[in-house]
Amino acid sequence: MDWQISNLVVGVDGSDGSHRAAEIGASIARHWKAKLILTTVVRPPEGWWGIGGAPPTPEALSAAIVEGQQKVLGDLVDGLDLEGIEYETVQELGDPTTRLLAVVEDREADLLVIGKRGASIAERVLLGSTADRLSQLTDCPLLVVP
Ligand SMILES: Nc1ncnc2c1ncn2[C@@H]1O[C@H](COP(=O)(O)OP(=O)(O)O)[C@@H](O)[C@H]1O
Ligand SMILES: [Mg+2]
Repeated sequence: MDWQISNLVVGVDGSDGSHRAAEIGASIARHWKAKLILTTVVRPPEGWWGIGGAPPTPEALSAAIVEGQQKVLGDLVDGLDLEGIEYETVQELGDPTTRLLAVVEDREADLLVIGKRGASIAERVLLGSTADRLSQLTDCPLLVVP
């Protein structure tokens, strides 16, 4: 088997952990001349899709995406050394684990890089909940950055 990294997905949620994941992801992408796909997922506010509730309008969704995700991705890209790296930013809406797995599959990623911890306020002793679920569900090699 000749495993190579052509496409690499990094999960970005604005946390320090995901920032470190993006730095390591950028280094790996540079060495492998791989495409770096910086991906952030916004979870719709609770209740938007609640029982009997009308689904959000596309306009409301776009506004939420623009507000929440553009800033997270923009701040990250501003703080990263991406010189000489082919990169792309991807914004998704929904459940972070499900959407990240979909992007990994869609882009035929060879590696998924995430932080051990994320943006949750809850202090978790072990892995974050997204990291935990991803490690159990992904078919793609996963790098968890402390
Ligand atoms: N909404 C998200 N979009 C993209 N990546 C995410 C998202 N949430 C978490 N991740 C990735 O998963 C890592 C671990 O986060 P998570 O498991 O959610 O920890 P916590 O429970 O501390 O928030 C983050 O560092 C990030 O790389
Ligand atoms: Mg989280």
